[in-house]
Amino acid sequence: MCGIVGYIGPRCATDVIMDGLRRLEYRGYDSAGLALVPRAGGQVHVIKRQGEIETGLQRGLQEDPPRFSGAGIGHTRWATHGPPSDDNAHPHTDCTGSLAVVHNGIIENYFELGQALREEGHKFRSEVDTEVIPHLVETHRDAGADLLEATMEAVRNLRGAYALAVVESGKGDDGEALVGVRRESPLIVGVGEDEYFLASDIAAVLPYTRNVVILENGDFALLTRNGYAIFDESGQEVERPVEVVDWDAEDAERGGHPHFMIKEILEQPAAWVAALQGRIGDDTVYLPELEYTTGIVDRLSQVYLVGCGTSYHAALAARPQFERMLGIPARAEIASEFRYADPALGTDSLVVFVSQSGETADTLACLDLAKQADAPTLGITNVVGSSLSRGVDDVVFTRAGPEISVASTKTYTTQLLILDLIAGHLGTTRGMREENAQRMRAVLAHAPDLPGEAERLLDDQEAVLGVAGYLAPWEDAFFIGRGLDFAAAMEGQLKLKEISYIHAEACAAGELKHGTLALIEQDIPVIAISTQDHLREKMASNVEEVRARGGWICLVTDRPEDRTAAIADAVIPIPRTAEVLSPVLVALALQLLAYHTAVMRGCPVDKPRNLAKSVTVE
Ligand code: F6R
Repeated sequence: MCGIVGYIGPRCATDVIMDGLRRLEYRGYDSAGLALVPRAGGQVHVIKRQGEIETGLQRGLQEDPPRFSGAGIGHTRWATHGPPSDDNAHPHTDCTGSLAVVHNGIIENYFELGQALREEGHKFRSEVDTEVIPHLVETHRDAGADLLEATMEAVRNLRGAYALAVVESGKGDDGEALVGVRRESPLIVGVGEDEYFLASDIAAVLPYTRNVVILENGDFALLTRNGYAIFDESGQEVERPVEVVDWDAEDAERGGHPHFMIKEILEQPAAWVAALQGRIGDDTVYLPELEYTTGIVDRLSQVYLVGCGTSYHAALAARPQFERMLGIPARAEIASEFRYADPALGTDSLVVFVSQSGETADTLACLDLAKQADAPTLGITNVVGSSLSRGVDDVVFTRAGPEISVASTKTYTTQLLILDLIAGHLGTTRGMREENAQRMRAVLAHAPDLPGEAERLLDDQEAVLGVAGYLAPWEDAFFIGRGLDFAAAMEGQLKLKEISYIHAEACAAGELKHGTLALIEQDIPVIAISTQDHLREKMASNVEEVRARGGWICLVTDRPEDRTAAIADAVIPIPRTAEVLSPVLVALALQLLAYHTAVMRGCPVDKPRNLAKSVTVE
């Protein structure tokens, strides 16, 4: 997500913050800015620009050079509300311009808060959720609270997951002060000699100090020239240990992990929390983003789900859910095929585009095609401001945060979740059969538990490591599954082949005997996925077919106690959840499998040969 840096001390705050922001560059961003406190008091000096640091913010500093300042905050933005622009860039200020805020995360109730503040006369200058915060702090500041108290009061009104840094110019004898807040999103305090830092990532402070305090959820940090203090949610001052970090700068970018891919795999529980936040509750899906689609959903007679690679696999997994929930035919389509297939599109065809980057050339070509046919269009993407997000009638963002590794992980599983929510929402609007309503309720009931279940899966990787050890010397592997497990198998084989260079293919398990079985020979690895109750016996027979040819079977299952598991050579157990959601947990296990196998084979995991993160050419 976004990057935060704050500084107070004897150095030039502009230099320290700019250096920190550059160190967060690997997160990707669409705009950056800083707010500096003048020593004499008065308004904070805010400079912010859309675009890269070098061409945007750095140029802004040349055009509007700040005076020497020893305290300030900075931010690199990854847009979630409001497209990238100078105005929407952080920091955001209160009406008087004497305090400024940067923010990472989402404020769910920003709309209501903004309305109330506007009615009280507060002036807003951007479209972003963050801007309510400085105005709320201002209200409490005006009522006599100091900066820390005012921030604590303001935060009581906020709903969501976020990290904040607030800076205020000195008022009277108070001197400058920085306040940090951690609510789900990470924030640390860097402790130097007579200087203190706030940062979303350790990477930003490493050149200055290796002593850091990792704030706990609900903590507030107050930084002044005289020191720092931490307060818990109730406002009680607390001690937090100072940890000494021995990472080098490159390790720090990857959060201490050897590759971005594993960092991003491990980030999935948090990404799912963000993707679901404010979108489910009381057996209902809340997706106000679907305003246009909701209005025309009754006139639809077919749905196309279009994407490439991993995003196509998300479409494949979502297809049955769309068909069931909306009660009309739904098809998953590969964009590079669909664009030349002369599809029968019309005003009654909803075309759903799935794309992490929102820039994939084939997917965008299909969007043109849909628009020419006047078909309603809906986009699911991770990138606010991307071509896809700007071109469709409605867009839902996956909120997974920037993904650096070429192989998609967290963006894929968040796509799966969002697609399920969309199918549920549109189905409810059209009206669905009771059995489908029950299915949807099961999805909504289980989805909030997924992050916790994922943590358990991520904590115990022994089974996955064992299977990776078996796979690593092989040059061929097979993935089999039925129904949703076939979609999961498709994604599993793609992940394995793209990063480990093992030739892998997925086969619908019932299709084995129509050809692929000829390739099953002694000890060849076959990953069999079984999570769907109504297909379990059929899968058991397919596993027997493989076993009879001498294949080595790894069963990925949510029923490790079953008879089929007993005949498998290895079992990767996954937690049991609503059937529709199981591809999310299976994906996590298969991502880990691909990752560990690739590492064992010495492959360049984050940058596989011949591949690019965003495929903007045909
Ligand atoms: C594989 C992978 C690719 C992308 C594909 C589409 O791990 O990431 O297969 O899914 O290139 O990209 P987007 O989703 O950006 O349209």
